[in-house]
Amino acid sequence: MAFTYRNGRLTAGSKEKNFDVLDIARKHERPVYIYDLGDILSRTRRLRSAFGSLPVTIHYAMKANANTEILRAMANDGLAVDTVSGGEIQTALENGFTPDKVIFSGVGKTKSEIELAVQADIKQINVESPQELERIAEIAKKLGRKPSVAFRMNPDVNPQTHPYITTGFRENKFGMDVSFLPELKKILRANSDHLRLRGVTLHIGSQLLELGSLKDAISKTVAVYKELQADGFQIDRFDIGGGLGIDYSTDDPAEELKRVDEYGQMVQELLAPLKCDVLTEPGRILVARSGILVGEVQYIKSTEFKNFAILNTGMHHLLRPALYQAKHRVLAVENPTSVQQVKYDVVGPICESSDFLAKDAELPRLKAGDYLAMADAGAYGFSMASFYNRHALPVEVVLNS
Ligand code: LLP
Repeated sequence: MAFTYRNGRLTAGSKEKNFDVLDIARKHERPVYIYDLGDILSRTRRLRSAFGSLPVTIHYAMKANANTEILRAMANDGLAVDTVSGGEIQTALENGFTPDKVIFSGVGKTKSEIELAVQADIKQINVESPQELERIAEIAKKLGRKPSVAFRMNPDVNPQTHPYITTGFRENKFGMDVSFLPELKKILRANSDHLRLRGVTLHIGSQLLELGSLKDAISKTVAVYKELQADGFQIDRFDIGGGLGIDYSTDDPAEELKRVDEYGQMVQELLAPLKCDVLTEPGRILVARSGILVGEVQYIKSTEFKNFAILNTGMHHLLRPALYQAKHRVLAVENPTSVQQVKYDVVGPICESSDFLAKDAELPRLKAGDYLAMADAGAYGFSMASFYNRHALPVEVVLNS
């Protein structure tokens, strides 16, 4: 486990090589994201092994955490990457990913982003609309290139996750349903010198805790893959997107790792018959558990109704609680055993009442100068942080455990 208590102090890393969180936090004036790189790499290996002998390329969804040390280590470890902007493509190329390891997803690709992708000759562009396909063809023609593209399908499934992070439902802006296919094929045929269709892709949503909807979505998309093949398109790639979730209420990863194995099994069963290359785009499952955000208590404020622990970090550094009412566990960095627990709302300095990190967290009695850690903050933490209220971004520390 990446973060655990030893003698009442929170430590990071493995049993053999661990680091004292308080020591790290005190070295910095600002709040700190701490990542356990060894833990991230062991998760990527675990995911890889779940697919057995099926040829699967793991395209890490770097929107979850684009720390460059982590990216370099992943590239070194043989991972590929999924990007969603020109900035991410650039960062990936600068940090060890060769163009043939980069795919480009996203619903609103601009001309200059597409130009960057086509010039760099990346592995694949995941297309979200007929207009985008036409734009790619135009740019490819101008540049004398023939980029590989895949169609992002919207399989119209409604996974049981937060409404802000479903993407494969008919009311979402993402992907294309089968009614788009005739128009897409027409554009492809008219631009056969400038576009190469490689396959299909889907991503139905994030933080999935059950695999049923994903199974439906993949099955529906297999039918599209077969239709395209029957139409004579020489396709050879099936991209299943990301989405595997974790249970934020516990530090026990047993359930999610079991789900990783079930996922691998399901993908083997559904896709082995196609005899194609399979791509997957995991984000959260690889990095969420391996990061914490550590902040310092500035003040304790108690009213008749609440105890507030006011930190030097908040929604500007970890937006998930404010945006999705996500519940991250709060860990007292020093947590002497058998002391009486007190309930706190853990809040930040931002001038908004949505600026909370946790409500009614049971913690040992706190005082100014104590440190708290938000657990499972390795995914969509720093990558969604902002300068709101002109506060500085947190420091990031990557540990080699
Ligand atoms: N592929 C595509 C096309 C995506 O849009 C995403 C995430 C992923 C892969 C990776 O999904 P994952 O394996 O991490 O679930 N900010 C939200 C999550 C938004 C996910 C957006 N797309 C959160 O903090 O829960």
